[in-house]
Amino acid sequence: MQAITPVPPTAFTPNRLAGKVLLVTGAAVGSIGGCAAIRGAREGASVMCVDRKVTELHETVREITSFGGTAVARVADVAKTADAENMVAECVRRFGKLDLALNAAGVMDGTDPAAPPDFANQKSLLPAAVHEATDEYWNSVLSNNLTSMFLSMRAELRQMVAQKAGGSIVNIGSIAGLTGLPGNPAYSASKHAVIGLTRNAAIDYAPHGIRVNSVNMAQTDTPMVFRAYEFVKWAMAQGAGSSMAGAKAQSLLQMADPDKRGSTPWEQAAIILFLLSDDASNLTGLAMATDGGWTAY
Ligand SMILES: NC(=O)c1ccc[n+]([C@@H]2O[C@H](COP(=O)([O-])OP(=O)(O)OC[C@H]3O[C@@H](n4cnc5c(N)ncnc54)[C@H](O)[C@@H]3O)[C@@H](O)[C@H]2O)c1
Repeated sequence: MQAITPVPPTAFTPNRLAGKVLLVTGAAVGSIGGCAAIRGAREGASVMCVDRKVTELHETVREITSFGGTAVARVADVAKTADAENMVAECVRRFGKLDLALNAAGVMDGTDPAAPPDFANQKSLLPAAVHEATDEYWNSVLSNNLTSMFLSMRAELRQMVAQKAGGSIVNIGSIAGLTGLPGNPAYSASKHAVIGLTRNAAIDYAPHGIRVNSVNMAQTDTPMVFRAYEFVKWAMAQGAGSSMAGAKAQSLLQMADPDKRGSTPWEQAAIILFLLSDDASNLTGLAMATDGGWTAY
């Protein structure tokens, strides 16, 4: 089988985002948002990086400043109204405006991704089929994946509309927004809703020259996936798990790859930066399957 070489971490389109201000939620180092923030800065944008993981967030900003890029770190919980509004206010205070936004903050389960997993003591926050799922798990996932997206978009769109200069927003969904996902109903429901919110905003803000799209990936090698592996190992050791859990485990490209490689966050960043840029001037309302063909079969 012939391997496909992934986009290298150093790839970028020079000056594509020159003069632009980009806000990224979920920008901790190693995450999809973190990689998009770094590539966005390489392309010339000033970047407001937001996350609730303090050390990992500052690591993204450190990497950007190390090559002469411009970035600011903002520790915030974007599931909270005040934090979402203040991050945009701070972005405008530091950089004078907001042109582009990537809403990448999200969680797999109800636990805090900033804290080490302690699954045995966090059962009420872990994924479970509907009949076994708790209110706590449901509310936490919906809050971090969906309410956070609404709050971030509202703050970003208020600023973009007031500026009267258009804009571009990319929201991160998942293949779980396009298909079901065994054993994690809150994740799947929240990601379907991200696509709905994206399409709705695309309609409402087209008259303002603001494009709104979503990207929906399969397995991408980030801290979220490493944590999910830990969870699966733990759940299997408990004898738990949906009988359908192994129904389809790989994307088309992953299956065809000699090393069964998933997507890299740099591959996702490349697609996201294209959507944010003027190269995608005729794209809006898209639920783009950036999934290595997962939903093609
Ligand atoms: N990695 C994958 O395989 C995969 C697949 C499909 C979809 N996604 C989606 O991609 C997006 C990015 O995930 P990732 O893979 O980079 O994972 P990640 O865990 O590395 O990054 C997500 C970041 O969001 C931050 N975050 C979560 N809730 C937050 C909140 N309320 N306020 C501030 N920050 C918050 C986390 O601290 C984390 O740094 C998520 O929306 C995820 O659901 C990932």
